[in-house]
Amino acid sequence: MISKMYYELVRLLHFAAIFTFAGALVIENMAIKPQITGEDTRNLAKVDAVSGVSAIFVLIFGLALWLWVGKPSEFYSSNPIFHAKLGLFTLMVVFAYRSHDIL
Ligand code: HEM
Repeated sequence: MISKMYYELVRLLHFAAIFTFAGALVIENMAIKPQITGEDTRNLAKVDAVSGVSAIFVLIFGLALWLWVGKPSEFYSSNPIFHAKLGLFTLMVVFAYRSHDIL
């Protein structure tokens, strides 16, 4: 019963982190321009920080769903689509890191 509650809670938190992350990315893409000034730059930096922190939460709660709560980890470990998802997530992190290097 308790473990089912943890599972549902972590699912919810994974989902909430995903929506925060996606929302922050949409705002960043709408707000970014070749030249931005003062307050816009500071606001963009804040939204960027939100996107970074929420990506970390997506990872933490994702790892929890995979390894600690819910179905046995083999359920996901043996699923090629899950590996594709991890690959895409890694690619996203690499591209995000590179784009910050350029800035
Ligand atoms: C931006 C990246 C990601 C997106 C968009 C995403 C998306 C989702 C969605 C929509 C669900 C279903 C949630 C639900 O049923 O409530 C889910 C579940 C899950 N995610 Fe992610 N995820 C991401 C990253 C990760 C990462 C990095 C991991 C592992 C390290 C992970 C592990 C899992 C697991 C194990 C489940 C299964 C939960 C279940 O069976 O109830 N996810 N993910």
